[in-house]
Amino acid sequence: MDVDRVAVIGCGTMGHGIAQVSAQAGLNVLVIEQSTEALARALERIEKALDRLQSRGKLDSAAVVRDRITGSTDVATLSDRQLVIEAVDEHLETKLDVWRSVDPVLGPNTVCATNTSSFSVIGQAMVTGRAEQFIGLHFFNPVAVMNLLEVIRSIASSDTAVATGQDFGRRIGKDIVLAPDRAGFIVNRLLLPYCVDAINAFESGFGSIEDIDTAMRGGCGYPMGPFTLLDFVGLDTVFTMTEVMWTEYADARFAAPPTLRKLVEAGFLGRKSGRGFYDYASDPPRAAVHR
Ligand code: 3HC
Repeated sequence: MDVDRVAVIGCGTMGHGIAQVSAQAGLNVLVIEQSTEALARALERIEKALDRLQSRGKLDSAAVVRDRITGSTDVATLSDRQLVIEAVDEHLETKLDVWRSVDPVLGPNTVCATNTSSFSVIGQAMVTGRAEQFIGLHFFNPVAVMNLLEVIRSIASSDTAVATGQDFGRRIGKDIVLAPDRAGFIVNRLLLPYCVDAINAFESGFGSIEDIDTAMRGGCGYPMGPFTLLDFVGLDTVFTMTEVMWTEYADARFAAPPTLRKLVEAGFLGRKSGRGFYDYASDPPRAAVHR
């Protein structure tokens, strides 16, 4: 199915980027948020990103792209959408609640997609009455910059639904990989053990937070060291991934190290809370965890 009308439910870090790139690709985009305040913040965030692109000569008209986006707090407005992408917080119950509430409103051919780091796609699909039309679309942060889109086929996804996800991904300019419905898919299956092991290395005295980050940037050419990346992704999200992947694989490579657990218990969730492995009150940020 050629998608012209897409919806993004949840317009935070990931959702606003998905809405933005979809509108830039010429699609008609509906964003759904929980409250009018959250919706206004989300639309403002998209406008700022579009204005920035225009001011740097990377977009002809921010206004034309912005006009393709409408917002609502009412899920009934989803009824004409061909593709609905959920991008709410990485809490399984929240995602399931979203699917339960929107499923009855959607048209019979609508394809549903979850943007999740590690939760089961089929587990979410089964709370809807359309498991065959349900796929995963896993985006990467920042969505407007990262080239990849993982398209996830569940055990019940139809060929049509998967092809719809792939066509949509190509239309918004992403490189597509087809990934299995296994916790973490491809990228997080490889990225999480690396990040967990960086924390383990720190805990066992291999180096400071800054030195490990400097080592992996300079030694491997990674754009961010592992602790900067962990803070960037959000430590609550990473912690949830460890729980989901530990449960699925029972492999110590996915087990949350104590420091990660304590940071999350303290509410130090990374950049979004102002403190994680680094303290973002200072410029440049200073390491905030010491052995
Ligand atoms: N939103 C939109 N654009 C952004 C951005 C953001 N948040 N941050 C940076 N950019 C753009 C800048 O405007 C700039 O564009 P330009 O080249 O056209 O001028 C470009 O990206 C480069 O930005 P900067 O020069 O400011 O900074 P960097 O060169 O350090 O790049 C970065 C920033 C792109 C974030 C880079 O550090 C990077 O690639 N980091 C790794 C990010 C990563 O690994 N993401 C995946 C995380 S895992 C994930 O998301 C999966 C989930 O399930 C956990």
